[in-house]
Amino acid sequence: MTSGTRHDAADARQARDNAPVAMRGPSSVSGALTALERIPTVVLDDHLDIAVQVARRIASVIRARNAEGRDAVLGLATGSTPIGVYRELIRMHRDEGLSFRRVVSFNLDEYYPMPPDSIHSYHRFMWENLFAHVDADRKKVHIPDGTVPRPKLEAWCAGYERAIRDAGGIDIQILGIGKTGHIGFNEPGSGEQSRTRLVHLDALTRRDAAADFFGEDFVPREAVTMGVATIFAAREIVIIATGEHKARVVQRAVEGPVDIEVAATFLQRHPATTFYVDAAAAGDLTRVATPWLLDQVEWTPRRTIEAVTWLSAKVGRAILKLTQQDYAEHKLSSLVARHGSPGAVNGLVFNELGAKIRGKSKLPHGKRVVCFSPHPDDDVISMGGILRKLTENGNDIIVAYMTSGNIAVFDHDVRRHVDFLLRMQRDHGVGGADVKALAKKVTAFLARKKPGDVDIPEVADIKRLIREAEAISGLETVGLPATSGRFLNLPFYQTGKVKKDPIGPADVKIVKKLLQETDPDYIFVAGDLSDPHGTHRMCKEAIDAAVAELWPNRPRGPHAHRSTDAKAARSPEVWLYRGAWQEWPVTEATWLVPMSQEELRFKIQAIFKHQSQKDSMPFPGQDDREFWQRVEQRNKDTAAILDQLGLAEYFAMEAYVVD
Ligand code: F6R
Repeated sequence: MTSGTRHDAADARQARDNAPVAMRGPSSVSGALTALERIPTVVLDDHLDIAVQVARRIASVIRARNAEGRDAVLGLATGSTPIGVYRELIRMHRDEGLSFRRVVSFNLDEYYPMPPDSIHSYHRFMWENLFAHVDADRKKVHIPDGTVPRPKLEAWCAGYERAIRDAGGIDIQILGIGKTGHIGFNEPGSGEQSRTRLVHLDALTRRDAAADFFGEDFVPREAVTMGVATIFAAREIVIIATGEHKARVVQRAVEGPVDIEVAATFLQRHPATTFYVDAAAAGDLTRVATPWLLDQVEWTPRRTIEAVTWLSAKVGRAILKLTQQDYAEHKLSSLVARHGSPGAVNGLVFNELGAKIRGKSKLPHGKRVVCFSPHPDDDVISMGGILRKLTENGNDIIVAYMTSGNIAVFDHDVRRHVDFLLRMQRDHGVGGADVKALAKKVTAFLARKKPGDVDIPEVADIKRLIREAEAISGLETVGLPATSGRFLNLPFYQTGKVKKDPIGPADVKIVKKLLQETDPDYIFVAGDLSDPHGTHRMCKEAIDAAVAELWPNRPRGPHAHRSTDAKAARSPEVWLYRGAWQEWPVTEATWLVPMSQEELRFKIQAIFKHQSQKDSMPFPGQDDREFWQRVEQRNKDTAAILDQLGLAEYFAMEAYVVD
């Protein structure tokens, strides 16, 4: 009986794993909450959970097809999204014997024109990120060819479609989604009947790819892509999105109407598609952003604050002026009922928000503080205001720059610094013959360098030094001595390319050593939910691992230092700043730190010290403004939000979340 039960459970699990998720229905979320969702959507905590689940699903398709004596046919994507899935498949190959001998694969797309050995080629991407690490059969790997002469392309594309059909059609197709809503490279305007073809890339897509190509001008204008109909023919589709920069397009694709301008919306008509999103990418789904509009919700303190601040913005009135009618008209009567009167809930939220404000007198005094800055400049961009206040409060501060940030320095900056060195040598005899030899080597390399070429060590090192000197100058601007800067140069970053290695024990060891040496009371960490190259997220991974090893029982939250466990109480309190691209919403922030006009000016001056990042940014992402302009706006906006909610009027504010 016991073994029978175990067997049944195992069979049931197996059957479950063998069924596409779309047929299993959405996860534990109530039907009302997902009523607006037209593609079954699974929200998981983070990208690693998604990678594991999707890889398992792919593995079960491979095993099921192979058990039937057939090859499994996979449709594969490139880009940053599926990398975790490929890592997990490689792990399953290594540890669990998952074989790719009987797998036929078809990739979605390739830039055009594009030689397969280019660092930008999707051929190279697939071999580097998956095929080279498993037992793939080269003959069964299909990736659109970026070298086919233009006159022959149409016939080549027809051949690709034929090859998919001949393989028996795609069993499971993996997709990412672009900010335009593209799947594959099916940009706005791609019809439901489109097939594999040459397409023009949308301006937004080219801009998103600019970082990888070391400038938008070098991004190809065209690509070969499977069409919407090609993708739609797959028996099962898994589409993945991670990071807050995808939140808007996820909401559009899942909840918006089918529209030729957003190719992913066509998936709403596919019978077996599942959207996997992490918490950040799910942020704009109604069930996450405003769940009270859909269903009865449980009124946690956090949700109460979110609902009342949302209502205040919606009706354009300060919190303390919200009325019974405002609540009733916006499906929030249950919140009033819970608290007895609008006045009670208004007062509660008003006080909660007010209690988050921490001026200088309420910030730490005389403590040890370590501020981790993923790149030189994140420290002053994100926490330039608090750094100055903490310095004035007599704290002992170390700013640890985790990477050199050297790939973001322009070559012309290197030339300028080499020229300076040559002049120092000529006029002051600095460096002797070594300077001339170095200058010659560097100049010759830069003259022959093509966009995207990896720098020679001398150039990479000069770029590192440029950023180190800027970082120190930035620290001095917020009142810190040069000795407070530490340059960790974590190994994961030292690939010379935009693509980094995964975080490894060597990275964690360096972070751990610093924490052991400094024994901080507080640490500050970039808590971005996403950043264009993932560097911030990876730096956080290294810090999390080091902290977990040093303080396995660390209590969390703003009052963790009051813990009664003596050893755990010695662990540092972790404050997360949001990084360069976005700010914590006031509802989510634990602490809001006001800044005067003068303090904001000092902060901006510190950002100016990062001159190599200032003139025109190599990695502008979606926003053309310089970092200091974004910072000014975001710090003023945070203060303005409190103002609109009817709290005190401050000039500017930084926001922090205590982990
Ligand atoms: C890649 C592809 C694209 C990407 C999309 C998202 O083969 O076809 O549709 O999936 O642009 O890119 P990432 O994952 O880099 O955000």
